[in-house]
Amino acid sequence: MTWRSNFVFRFDGVSAVIEFTSRSNRILRIDDDHIIVFDDFRNVDLKEKADLIFADPPFGINFRGNLATYNRIPDATSYVEVSREEYPKFIRELAEWCYRNLKPNGSMWLISGWNNLRYVLDAVEDAGFIQLNHVIWKYQFGVFTRRRFVTSHYHLLLLVKDEENYTFNKPEHYPEDVWIIKRPYHRGEKTAGNELPDDLVERCVKTSSNEGDFVVDPVLGSGTTMRVCLKLNRRCLGIEINSHLERRIREKLGMDAEPK
Ligand SMILES: C[S@@+](CC[C@H](N)C(=O)[O-])C[C@H]1O[C@@H](n2cnc3c(N)ncnc32)[C@H](O)[C@@H]1O
Repeated sequence: MTWRSNFVFRFDGVSAVIEFTSRSNRILRIDDDHIIVFDDFRNVDLKEKADLIFADPPFGINFRGNLATYNRIPDATSYVEVSREEYPKFIRELAEWCYRNLKPNGSMWLISGWNNLRYVLDAVEDAGFIQLNHVIWKYQFGVFTRRRFVTSHYHLLLLVKDEENYTFNKPEHYPEDVWIIKRPYHRGEKTAGNELPDDLVERCVKTSSNEGDFVVDPVLGSGTTMRVCLKLNRRCLGIEINSHLERRIREKLGMDAEPK
């Protein structure tokens, strides 16, 4: 495969410019303000820094039960996992990338399971982030277990660079840090592994950004963050390593199927 190094993509929209460099030339441009690049986030550099980064990375668990969904060979409905051994380095590189590509008054939402949470917490602190909240997302239908409790929550870390200067649009008068949000059913639909509910992503995006702000998701998956940003009038750049997911992304965004 030949890679174009330091290729600069520049989209001049009416309201904004999204400019970045990437080693990949696989780009899905929805409009001037909404772009997806299929690449490893570590190969992408942003010219404009983000107001908000939303990241739901692989959890670094060697899934045994559901290899059809969680495997290391990318296809149209899978995502690229990171092995347990690689995880501490991977999550450190993600935290550092996000810190580097965030505005001084920006915020980040980072999702983690509990298994590797210790690496995540160390990585964000070491990168320079300040932890504002540690939200628990309680969902329904964890995987059945015999000799331990069923896991039915994820951790959502709200991180900032500057405790005195960040966006916080309080969603209600008394917003607690345990959120009960259902996962959607996708009856008959071929989904990508671990798609988040729009409601969850919406709550994060609304709280930590304003209309016209620039949101980045460096591990986009099926495009949930992009769909939410289109709905809420945020500009958005998504980065996803598995270009086969374009089919699912197009479907979720209501676009025509990928041209053959
Ligand atoms: C948990 S999924 C994200 C799911 C997403 N929030 C959604 O609702 O569909 C994590 C994604 O990160 C992608 N990924 C893994 N390593 C990556 C990397 N180095 N750069 C960019 N994306 C990566 C995986 O292929 C996967 O699609």
